[in-house]
Amino acid sequence: MLDSMDGKYNVGGVLLDRPFKIRRLGHFGINAIKMEDALHFYHALMGFRIVDIRDPFPEGREVPDELKPFGDLRGYFFRYSHDHHAFVLYNHRQRGAVDKLGRWRENITVNQITWQVGTLAEAVNGHHWLKERGSNMIRAGRDMPGSNWHTYLMDADWFQNELYYGIEQIGWDGYSKPWDMHNREFKDVAPLPQISEYREVQEALEAGVEMNTGYRDIEPLEEKHDVDGILLGRPFKITKIGPVRLFCQDINAALSFYRDSLGFIETETVDYKGHQCVFLRNNTEHHSMSLYPIALRKELGCREDSQLFAFAVRLANYQQLKNAVAFFREQGCTVREDIPQELYPGIDYSAFVVDPDGQLIQLYAYMEQVGWDGKPRPASDRRRVIPGDWPDAVEAVSDSYMGEPFLGPLG
Ligand SMILES: [Fe+2]
Repeated sequence: MLDSMDGKYNVGGVLLDRPFKIRRLGHFGINAIKMEDALHFYHALMGFRIVDIRDPFPEGREVPDELKPFGDLRGYFFRYSHDHHAFVLYNHRQRGAVDKLGRWRENITVNQITWQVGTLAEAVNGHHWLKERGSNMIRAGRDMPGSNWHTYLMDADWFQNELYYGIEQIGWDGYSKPWDMHNREFKDVAPLPQISEYREVQEALEAGVEMNTGYRDIEPLEEKHDVDGILLGRPFKITKIGPVRLFCQDINAALSFYRDSLGFIETETVDYKGHQCVFLRNNTEHHSMSLYPIALRKELGCREDSQLFAFAVRLANYQQLKNAVAFFREQGCTVREDIPQELYPGIDYSAFVVDPDGQLIQLYAYMEQVGWDGKPRPASDRRRVIPGDWPDAVEAVSDSYMGEPFLGPLG
């Protein structure tokens, strides 16, 4: 049993209700059916850079006949910033075919929803605490590639969540960690303490590991777009990921998982035509997770064989958001502007791009920030958006350009 004082846990000297605190969405994954098209969409069009590729059938290994119809079987890790991965793409049907533990669900096309905690102790103590509570734990340890220490668990709908600490950081040269440095993978929860990553690198250098033998992506598009002073392959830059939007079979069971087990804070509940939709946060953003009753899915014209409503990405600014909408249309993608604004309170201008499998990727540039008193802005004080009407520029609001900043160069 973990030590607690009157039911409180000491997290770095601060007493909390659980022995960890989620800071932000770290990465997110989709399991795709049209893998080749999805790879083009997320890599070339969205602009996520490939950081590593996991091939279950490396050179010489025969692909079994039953997997051949599923297309590309490799798993792709992508980044938009310095975190080793912010997005992953796996093959949905292959995942189902090789699932021996009964964890795959046909309508769960999310690979993982992954939350960053502050320390390794939080990740490890969080694992033990969640296990003691009877959570649906999957596995714990440290994965390669990515080097993050973690624990995986399922929510009520079998969406796989992960808590992690310490994901590998990609530096100026753009190379991922050499595969020869994957020796410190852990298949079980880590004993504490562990040596630092800097020590691991030192030991690898002394062992003669070549430091530039990891993966380095090549920009797939011509870098012809002037993006606020930098030439990029597309006229915008993703600067943050999330929120995640899920359709839930039982909204109360889902809420209990995210609020009571993972510690999310309820920011706001919206009644949309009798459907209760819940918006949750773990930092200053209005929400990073949102839960919707599954009965809404058909009404919104969403893909009927998936419980993922949408995965959102924040672009650097309003102008880039406008540029992105035009860019995706020029590329032949469907861009939807008909999803009602009440379903994403805290965001003003927005559009939803349809990916090759029919999943919605929400584009936005502004997210309302919640301060010390925990109160969101009254709905009546929010900016009103007329769908399809994109002004040349918008008036600033009190929290324009606030919240988690993007670090480093745009490209
Ligand atoms: Fe992960």
